[in-house]
Amino acid sequence: MRFSRALAAAVCIGALSVVGIAIAQDADTEKAIERYRQMLKEDPWSNPGLLDVDRGEALWKTARGPKNVTLEQCDLGKGPGKVEGAFAELPRYFKDADRVMDVETRLLWCMEKLQGFNPADLVKRPHPGGGQPVKELGAIATWIANQSSGQKFAAKLDQPKEKEVVALGEELFFRRSGPFDFSCATCHSAEGLRIRLQGLPYLADPKEARKVVGEWPAYRVSTTQVMTMQHRLVDCYWQMRLPELQLGSDVSIALIAYLTKQATGGEITAPGLKR
Ligand code: HEC
Repeated sequence: MRFSRALAAAVCIGALSVVGIAIAQDADTEKAIERYRQMLKEDPWSNPGLLDVDRGEALWKTARGPKNVTLEQCDLGKGPGKVEGAFAELPRYFKDADRVMDVETRLLWCMEKLQGFNPADLVKRPHPGGGQPVKELGAIATWIANQSSGQKFAAKLDQPKEKEVVALGEELFFRRSGPFDFSCATCHSAEGLRIRLQGLPYLADPKEARKVVGEWPAYRVSTTQVMTMQHRLVDCYWQMRLPELQLGSDVSIALIAYLTKQATGGEITAPGLKR
């Protein structure tokens, strides 16, 4: 009896010290990652995401697809071919498509209409597996976002259709669903939450949304690739065990419109750098 109690006590102490070590390691790792980020920031050219920015620019200017044309006539909202500052005003309503679109959905549209690609092929596997470089569409989106770097999010989102989409995004953000009964807000609606090492930004709070939303697309150190916002949301949907979020779907655009609205006035620093 006495023996087993002593054993239980020893096990408890052992478990506690294991927990203690885990916390200490977490803090160390976090500090090391922060230092790594700092070092990369000191030399902005060392962000590997910039390689995809260059790749995206080259792809934009290369004749491709069944029609063998470039994307240089693609209208991102400021007129055909105008890229600088376009990302800062997305998502927006496009009359030609009669739809509100984020940057990736708009690119999908241009790749279909101008270059003749089949959009069904492009959305089949639109995001790279771990360690693989971002796909073409994502690289072009990264370049486009980078062409608004230093600017502030200024999507007006004030047209009736735009307002509808933002309202849908907000609804979806707070709506619990799926086998875990999670909403986005379950993980992103309180200060200081984290899962293991990963900080969970309080996206429902414009102050935090302004800090992080403008970093996407971002180079993700742990998977050594650029991840776009559409890809980020696929991962979060997977964490909620919801069906795979399709690139260009109404739901994906609504969530991005809501996040962008939350981030209004925040600076665009794409490609950012994530753990
Ligand atoms: C089960 C918890 C969970 C849920 C639910 C969840 N996310 Fe996330 N989300 C995460 C984690 C974890 C990360 C950070 C991952 C990392 O650090 O690499 C993250 C990161 C993000 C980011 C990037 C934040 C940054 O640091 O720049 C955005 C944007 C985001 N989530 C949006 C959403 C949206 C929108 C939903 C609902 C569709 C959602 N998330 C649902 C766990 C969740």
